Amino acid sequence: MERMFGKPIVTQEQMRARIRELGRQISADYAGKDLVLVGVLKGAYAFYADLARAIRIPVRVDFIIVTSSKPRTKAAAKVKQVTELTEKITGKDVLLVEDIVDSGVTAQYLLKVLAKKKPRSINVCTLLSKQDCRIADVRVEYVGFTVPDQYIVGYGLDYRQKYRNLPYLAVLDQKELQDE
Ligand code: IMP
Ligand code: MG
Repeated sequence: MERMFGKPIVTQEQMRARIRELGRQISADYAGKDLVLVGVLKGAYAFYADLARAIRIPVRVDFIIVTSSKPRTKAAAKVKQVTELTEKITGKDVLLVEDIVDSGVTAQYLLKVLAKKKPRSINVCTLLSKQDCRIADVRVEYVGFTVPDQYIVGYGLDYRQKYRNLPYLAVLDQKELQDE
């Protein structure tokens, strides 16, 4: 990394501890069920890998790639599904794994798309939630951290496809956005 970014908003230690808790909770909630973890790429890749390994019951893994052209205003993003699932989810218990739920438009769109395949249940697990930014009324069962309305990068989250490999979560301030 040629540049480091301000204070991490969530440290690696906090993240590790919280993901362990989420893994325990999900393992208990889904014991005896047929869990398919559906990761939303690209943003969820880092969280997904750590969460999956914190879950102590057998799971199937699958991914879906979406792009959302997100305006910097509060207008809703346009979501486009780029790839299909490879696992069958009909009759199974699906957990959608997201990096961040902001307006909620992406999660709501994906819940609608996946519901058509008739899973037995479907829930959302997100590392971050910008609770105050919701446009779409979407139920998020598992939240790692609730964060304020600031632009966050690292640990999978990008700004214009960069910074996903930062090993922690950091706020990208206005100046850094303009410098791009
Ligand atoms: P939505 O507004 O809930 O539909 O979120 C759409 C997508 O916008 C998320 O999956 C992220 O990829 C991206 N996003 C929203 N807020 C942030 C942020 O603070 N940093 C990086 N990406 C974000
Ligand atoms: Mg993104």
